[in-house]
Amino acid sequence: MDEPINIPLDQYREYTPGEMQQRAAVFSEEMQRRRTVRAFSERAVPDNVISDCLKAAGTAPSGANQQPWHFVVVTDPIVKHRIREGAEKEERTFYEHRAPDAWLDALSPLGTQWKKPFLDRAPCLIVIFAQKYGLDKDGEKVKHYYVNASVGIATGFLITALHHAGLVSLTYTPSPMDFLNKILQRPKNEKAFMILVAGYPEKGVTVPDVSKKALEEISTWV
Ligand SMILES: Cc1cc2nc3c(=O)[nH]c(=O)nc-3n(C[C@H](O)[C@H](O)[C@H](O)COP(=O)(O)O)c2cc1C
Repeated sequence: MDEPINIPLDQYREYTPGEMQQRAAVFSEEMQRRRTVRAFSERAVPDNVISDCLKAAGTAPSGANQQPWHFVVVTDPIVKHRIREGAEKEERTFYEHRAPDAWLDALSPLGTQWKKPFLDRAPCLIVIFAQKYGLDKDGEKVKHYYVNASVGIATGFLITALHHAGLVSLTYTPSPMDFLNKILQRPKNEKAFMILVAGYPEKGVTVPDVSKKALEEISTWV
């Protein structure tokens, strides 16, 4: 077992109560403006913006700091189209055969359907893989802890970073997602977690009129 090595928390910054209130309010207001978008412009996004957003995602906390994630950034139109074909094959059977009525009812306000043109149009598909287990230098399996919670948090950081940079995203989860391992040649210890579609919104795009629960509904103070 390794001995812990501690270092000073040099990166911490304390703000005055006034500054803190202002920062919290400004950030909350910025987050209120985030919306999932399902129609994207074909406009390219700078690679370095995506890299910085991924670096922000990579700062996420994770079980035992195992960072059990891998992000594949897809901008090649041929690969995007293969992903669209794979996704639409699954989506078509989902919408036409597999989806229980209750699930279709829950989706109906969003107006989603099996065709996914955004997978061709959006400039960037970030395919997020969860590493179910790791591999040590001898190729032996290493147990990973809290994989889904960790990858979910990193994904949240990424969504927030993209929004903060001025881009929009769609948390897209075709089911099942095994086709992504094949197309992107990812190893067996990785399971596709989500496709985060990122880019600029299509001109004149509309979004479903959904609302968020009030603070009183989502929180209890004891
Ligand atoms: C885990 C997860 C999976 C989702 N999967 C899909 C999806 O497959 N297709 C889709 O159009 N939207 C998907 N969404 C987006 C939600 O429908 C969307 O976040 C919700 O309607 C609220 O809208 P908002 O993000 O604009 O606030 C998903 C969201 C989450 C968090």
